[in-house]
Amino acid sequence: MRESSHLSSVIPLAGTGLRLAVSRGSETAGAQPTAVDTPRGAAPETVGRILLYAARTPDDGLVEHLKSRGWSVLVARSAHEIGRLIKPATICAGLVDMASFAVRDLPALEASLRQQQVGWIALANPERLADPTVRRLIRHYCFDYVKIPVANATIDYLIGHAYGMMNLCDADMPPDTTAVSDDEMVGTCEAMQQLFRTIRKVANTDASVFISGESGTGKELTALAIHERSPRRKAPFIPINCGAIPHHLLQSELFGYERGAFTGANQRKIGRVEAANGGTLFLDEIGDLPMESQASLLRFLQEGKIERLGGHESIAVDVRIISATHVDLEDAMRDGRFRSDLFHRLCVLRVDEPPLRARGKDIELLAHHILGKFKTDNARKLRGFTPSAIEAMYNYHWPGNVRELINRVRRAIVMAEGKLICADDLDLANFSEQQTVSLAQAREAAEKRAIEAALLRHRNRLNEAATDLGISRVTLYRLMGAHGLRDTSSDDKADGKSPSAGGREARE
Ligand SMILES: Nc1ncnc2c1ncn2[C@@H]1O[C@H](COP(=O)(O)OP(=O)(O)OP(=O)(O)O)[C@@H](O)[C@H]1O
Ligand SMILES: [Mg+2]
Repeated sequence: MRESSHLSSVIPLAGTGLRLAVSRGSETAGAQPTAVDTPRGAAPETVGRILLYAARTPDDGLVEHLKSRGWSVLVARSAHEIGRLIKPATICAGLVDMASFAVRDLPALEASLRQQQVGWIALANPERLADPTVRRLIRHYCFDYVKIPVANATIDYLIGHAYGMMNLCDADMPPDTTAVSDDEMVGTCEAMQQLFRTIRKVANTDASVFISGESGTGKELTALAIHERSPRRKAPFIPINCGAIPHHLLQSELFGYERGAFTGANQRKIGRVEAANGGTLFLDEIGDLPMESQASLLRFLQEGKIERLGGHESIAVDVRIISATHVDLEDAMRDGRFRSDLFHRLCVLRVDEPPLRARGKDIELLAHHILGKFKTDNARKLRGFTPSAIEAMYNYHWPGNVRELINRVRRAIVMAEGKLICADDLDLANFSEQQTVSLAQAREAAEKRAIEAALLRHRNRLNEAATDLGISRVTLYRLMGAHGLRDTSSDDKADGKSPSAGGREARE
């Protein structure tokens, strides 16, 4: 089967950038500075790794030690001097002695710390660490901090690490020439690998596919990927958004009409079903299909023929149907809003899109992918994301999934003032303060993630998910309610919806 670019589980970014980064990172991150071509006490201009040491009263002994470890040390006694010493295109490590600066120096210091080409490590005493501004500066702009007094070896380790991380950010960026295809599907986590395997399998058949998933998870991209890998790939892929077309027009959009079929029908129009002949018809937001169109669609699926509005001829059409929705069709069927006979025709094969929050490391991978795609929206050369931006992306819930990630990164590209996108640029500053998460909250979040992943693996089959999780089905059902993973509004109604009575969540 042809390997389509839509299904690269490791995208060019990961294939080149990350591998490169790992090797560069392993040389530098956490390592001691290399070959000391700078003799003890040599001038800071000498080649080597640059360390910016910011302290109102620098420790001469420390400076000597750092030089002996191969660092070209630049000493700044004020925020102004830091600004003067930082070179726009030069990556360096930074050591800032918070304890030596006065509180009134902090605003100016913040502007300097924001410079993205410096990987900062903070030195602080307990008194300074109690100051909320200092705490915030460390959280937002530093890789790490250490309480003084501290052994030189610890400082060696930390600044080596910060320097390595800065280089890693640099190497993470795909080369400028990287062409990023518009409909490339990015994913390396287990849930996405499973999705790619499913896509490959279902592409080989002609059976109807139903794609379910939250808004913005990539349902349309998946439908296109299935088509592009199917034997129908040379024929059209015709999408129709059943939710976006006014109900009274839907029928003619789907099946077309003959000239004179109604006032204003001046010429024959071919409907979307007919236009997809030989190819794939993608019925998006199928849950919004009105009852009348549901009946016509069912008739077409049963007979393989359509009739244009105002026409008398039955036309045989050969299409493969893929449908998708973000609404719960099982709910809709129970409420009588969706025909179950149509659902069973549409859902011969089912594909579940994992929500972004369940994709682990892929969030970061996707963010870099999007940055690579849109970085030219900002004239400044953006290198990547700050550690706090990455942390915020992991903490955030992503209700709008990949589409929301795209929007936030695009906004950040425009808003970013430094070379790295920070949490604030993504409008996620509130999600980067991991230290405000209590252990109980962390446990709760982990529990929810584990339940979501198990439900996804077992397509909401409670018995199997519960076995996987090592809990009873009743406990799982209760926890799903507690975590907002099921609709609890009907709990106080008839007991027919409890798990033991075979409610809708029980799909076994
Ligand atoms: N795995 C992925 N890799 C790269 N881009 C993706 C991925 N998944 C989704 N996208 C991008 O996210 C955006 C939303 O995807 P898509 O329109 O397929 O989602 P959807 O589930 O159909 O959304 P909705 O429910 O709102 O219709 C698109 O720009 C798509 O290219
Ligand atoms: Mg869609």
